[in-house]
Amino acid sequence: MSPQDLVLGIETSCDETGIGLYDLARRRLVAHRVFSQIDMHAAYGGVVPELASRDHVRRIVPLIRETLGAAQAELSDLVAVGYTTGPGLAGALLVGASIAEALAMALGIPAIPVHHLEGHLLSPLLASEPPQFPFVALLVSGGHTQLMSVAGVGNYVLLGESVDDAAGEAFDKTGKLLGLGYPGGPAMAKLAAGGVAGRFRLPRPMLKSGDLQFSFSGLKTAVLTATQQPDYSAERAPDLAAEFQEAVVDVLCGKALAALKQTGLQRLVVAGGVGANTRLREQLITAVSRSGGRVYFPELEFCSDNGAMIALAAAMRIEAGIAEATSNGAFAIRPRWPLDQACA
Ligand code: KG4
Ligand code: ZN
Repeated sequence: MSPQDLVLGIETSCDETGIGLYDLARRRLVAHRVFSQIDMHAAYGGVVPELASRDHVRRIVPLIRETLGAAQAELSDLVAVGYTTGPGLAGALLVGASIAEALAMALGIPAIPVHHLEGHLLSPLLASEPPQFPFVALLVSGGHTQLMSVAGVGNYVLLGESVDDAAGEAFDKTGKLLGLGYPGGPAMAKLAAGGVAGRFRLPRPMLKSGDLQFSFSGLKTAVLTATQQPDYSAERAPDLAAEFQEAVVDVLCGKALAALKQTGLQRLVVAGGVGANTRLREQLITAVSRSGGRVYFPELEFCSDNGAMIALAAAMRIEAGIAEATSNGAFAIRPRWPLDQACA
């Protein structure tokens, strides 16, 4: 049976061009492709926005063709195009937005702006054992660390967030100061695997603050201070990385448990790039199951930025009757856009 009623998802908010195809009738993802620009940005130690935009321009149309080909689908099978409209890099967002709007206009189908974090927090629903609503979502990406109460699609209440650096940003910055390449998260996790936490003592910022806010920038400074001590040498970097990771994981676990307690919910959904961290996964599973709850993670391929989660979010909004299509190709990108303002 050939796929039909397909929702195309387009993600270009940062350094991944992501395309997804979600079958609305059969409620399943049929194909997705991601092109990561990480290698290109690694030479500069971080994402260079102008280079990111230019590379999205080069990749996006061939990637859409490739994804349609993988699904043995045609443009005429599309019923809507969802695209990330924010938050993210303005130039990068514009590439996805203009392609999506042009395609939708040419095909006479709706274009649906999608919030990037909504994509992330719904991404565990693409797993073989998806969570039911309601749940608490812990969003841990390069740009955001947030706890959300999610009653259903388009129904999000912010419980707490980072007052400074995001968890992923802290991994990236700390990795940089330890001389690791970009992105620092996976590199720090790898370094930490060869070290022992506890040989250095780092703070657990705001763990006992009594609210659901986070702060990670002091942790990065504490790592810097540790490297400046006379007894520090590069051989001790794995131990320092392990202690840093443990500190971040302790805080994320502690606050996630507090959020479950505060809301009375049993299910925790973890999303965003840092959700790929093995130590975080282990600790969350242990802590949440001990308290009688259950943790859900996206498949590893959907932890980092991708088009599948954007196609899914657009499809779920269509199903729920809350998709707000743009009209006459008039669209705006939203580089800064709090998720609770994207509620239905
Ligand atoms: O969600 P994502 O792909 O992009 C954003 O929307 O930000 O998250 C990227 C972030 C980066 O900061 C990266 O270093 C971090 O996720 N990350 C990790 C790991 N894999 C990716 N952090 C810690 N451990 C990992 N294994
Ligand atoms: Zn992301």
